[in-house]
Amino acid sequence: MATALIILAAGQGTRMNSDLPKVLHKVAGAPVLAHAMRAGATLEPDRMIVVTGHERAAVEAAARTVDEEVIVVAQEEQLGTGHAVAQALPALEGFAGKVLILFGDTPLIRTETLEALAGAEADITVLGFRAANPRRYGRLITSGGVLERIVEFKDASEAERDVTLCNGGLMAVDAALLADLVPTLSNDNAAGEYYLTEIVAMARAKGRTATVVTCDEGETLGVDTRAQLAQAEASFQARARAEAQENGVTMTAPETVFFAYDTVIGRDTVIAPNVVFGPGVTVESEAEIRAFCHLEGCHISRGATVGPFARLRPGAELAEDVHVGNFVEIKNAILDEGVKVGHLTYLGDAHIGEHTNIGAGTITCNYDGVMKHRTEIGKRAFIGSDTMLVAPVKIGDGALTASGSVITQDVPAEALAISRARQETKPGLATRLFENLKRIKAKRQKEAQ
Ligand code: UD1
Repeated sequence: MATALIILAAGQGTRMNSDLPKVLHKVAGAPVLAHAMRAGATLEPDRMIVVTGHERAAVEAAARTVDEEVIVVAQEEQLGTGHAVAQALPALEGFAGKVLILFGDTPLIRTETLEALAGAEADITVLGFRAANPRRYGRLITSGGVLERIVEFKDASEAERDVTLCNGGLMAVDAALLADLVPTLSNDNAAGEYYLTEIVAMARAKGRTATVVTCDEGETLGVDTRAQLAQAEASFQARARAEAQENGVTMTAPETVFFAYDTVIGRDTVIAPNVVFGPGVTVESEAEIRAFCHLEGCHISRGATVGPFARLRPGAELAEDVHVGNFVEIKNAILDEGVKVGHLTYLGDAHIGEHTNIGAGTITCNYDGVMKHRTEIGKRAFIGSDTMLVAPVKIGDGALTASGSVITQDVPAEALAISRARQETKPGLATRLFENLKRIKAKRQKEAQ
């Protein structure tokens, strides 16, 4: 059946104590809203509508980075979840099927749960969960397995408050029924809000069917506070680590490895402790990421080894069997097969040909203070330790730069470039120099007494 999504994201999240609306705070490198949108997108909805309010422009921009086609509607005043859905109704004009209503501040919802919601055979299907401590959640009032109504905590009787089946907030509703009921909602309740939850009782009064699909409490976690943001991050990481292990990834200390929302790691890759993945990282199989690496926007091919203490920044592309060692930073650079960059190096805006060796302390001087320039190094070249490559510059295949050279001109294939002061050696001068310095020091100490 055709589906459409409405994602409610108008709230500010006062308890975050932040200038940023709550849906723009990040979990695993992506805004909370993006997680809800990505989960919803797996249902391949015909339309995705995001309801915005606080910091509308910023929320819209974030939504468009996930889906350029998303329909963004405004809710000028936050008068309740029912009022928020009402703002989305014009954008549903002409749509027939199921409308899934999600919350933009609920980042942990699973695709399987959304599929179950969308697939249930009822006019309204509500997501419920058994709460260990039901607190202020709405309660699902059922009778004989049928959902009769949802009562908000503020409006609930003592007996209703004892119900532990809680409203997760998400629901799937037949589009025509939603369009029929939402405009008739009233705000005559304890909070003075237009509650979306009221539509269940209204639908039942018309003889329509309502049911509950349940999920784990953790999936419904809403991010309203910094503590909940940290809790969402921890849950995301626990899930991502378990998934990586199921996919055949070895982690020596999984609790110290942090993934981004889109990290992809291949089978039989080994990740040592204390590794952080920022967004946009793909690692093929049988690679090794040693301890204390920070990786972001990069690709690591099969059999490559990285670290310990390496930093790969956006645009770092490592081909098969590349070795990147300790204290190496790579940005916007392609390293072809078998390149070795063992120690203390910065490679930025560069292309390094296959099987080239980059000596310790090599730096591509890519920035002149105004513009960035490229360094091109051919195949099987040997860049001596502590070479400064002042870009733009090209080093040919099989060329060699002498240690300590400052390379400012292109080096042809197979040539040796040496660019450093000639050494002078003075026999005995070191001993004489030290004796002289010691005499000066003794004289000064005597004068000071
Ligand atoms: C809602 C449910 C409650 C459920 C709980 C689960 C209603 C009336 N109550 O309460 O039964 O147990 O979720 O977390 O639906 N929003 C808007 N515009 C508004 C109001 C809200 O966009 O005018 C958005 C919020 O930004 C948030 C979501 O809707 O993303 C939920 O709103 P919130 O006010 O937090 O609902 P709860 O009080 O948690």
